[in-house]
Amino acid sequence: MQLNTIKEADLKGKRVLIRVDFNVPLKNGVVTDNTRIKAALPTVQYILEQGASLVVMSHFGRPKGQKNPDFSMAPIAKEFEKLLGKPVKLASDVIGSEVETEVKALKPGEVLLLENVRFYKEEEANDPEFAKTLASYGDIYCNDAFGTAHRAHASTEGVSHYLPSYAGFLIEKEVKFMAPLLENPEKPFVAIIGGSKVSSKITVLESLVKTCDTIVIGGGMAYTFLSVLGNKIGKSLFEPDYVDTAKAFLEKAKEKGVKVILPVDNVCAREFSETAEPVLVNSDDISDDLMGMDIGPKTVALITDSLKDAKSVVWNGPMGVFEFDAFAKGTEAVAKALAASNATTVVGGGDSVAAINKFGLASKISHVSTGGGASLEFLEGKTLPGIKALEK
Ligand code: 3PG
Repeated sequence: MQLNTIKEADLKGKRVLIRVDFNVPLKNGVVTDNTRIKAALPTVQYILEQGASLVVMSHFGRPKGQKNPDFSMAPIAKEFEKLLGKPVKLASDVIGSEVETEVKALKPGEVLLLENVRFYKEEEANDPEFAKTLASYGDIYCNDAFGTAHRAHASTEGVSHYLPSYAGFLIEKEVKFMAPLLENPEKPFVAIIGGSKVSSKITVLESLVKTCDTIVIGGGMAYTFLSVLGNKIGKSLFEPDYVDTAKAFLEKAKEKGVKVILPVDNVCAREFSETAEPVLVNSDDISDDLMGMDIGPKTVALITDSLKDAKSVVWNGPMGVFEFDAFAKGTEAVAKALAASNATTVVGGGDSVAAINKFGLASKISHVSTGGGASLEFLEGKTLPGIKALEK
């Protein structure tokens, strides 16, 4: 995948329209995790240093095409300004004559952040007229919103039809780390996939089985696989509609010589509760009153062992209910094993990234993706419209 990158563009004196993903968590009007804003700074700074001015677009939350002050970019503008270390003007709206005046007044080195692009239903509808209006704010379009690259919206895809379009450094980096996993990973390649549902992870399993040597299946979805293999799974999560899919997947992995690691022991509970008493049982011994909530220490040892010689590792999805401390040890151990590994390690997906951050290990991972849905779809081998628009 060859992308047009912002380094190739002549930026001096230009007005650059950039799409970023500043969809960040807020609490009482304060940004509680600024990772996504920080991740866009290298591109923002580079563009400004080249003597361009910037019109910045992002969505925040899902205001459903309505102007809603609860979804204003105002608190995000403040955090962006603080991190950038220079003034960020918040536009009065997304489109309209006032915004046009604000855009035209921009001088080289100045930054204008538009209001939430999702205040207009035309954004998600990828309305061509709306996209054209947005495009009129810049001479050049740069997309650095990896987290929103799976959406074909006006600000992520539509504008690319009207302006020369380039990838920012974040999108470049995300693709640099993730594309080889689907094409030619350094081997041995271990994929660790968790999460609660087979239905939401089967496509990523089927995609990664083509290139990986070992695939670890953890989290709630592991119990449908364990059941297929004849284990009693008690009250654990089970998706009857995915039994055949799970069987077919295990057969495919066998055919391809891919090793599948499923939990051999489990931290179970009698009810789904933070205060439930943890009960450690082997996978062939889950009684009817128990449900699997986390992988056990023997499974952790198997996973750690599989990482010993690995050259590439990708992790998507927690190994258990890591929000509950008593059932977080498996996920924590996997996070630590990745952090200790010499392999190129990539973590994608909202929950596994949250786990890496919860355990303070982000700096020890080669690449922590800023995409939740976007990184999952990328690993599924899907074409992300926001990235396709930047291809050479
Ligand atoms: C995300 O947080 O995953 C992205 O910002 C995309 O948001 P969306 O799921 O509302 O499109």
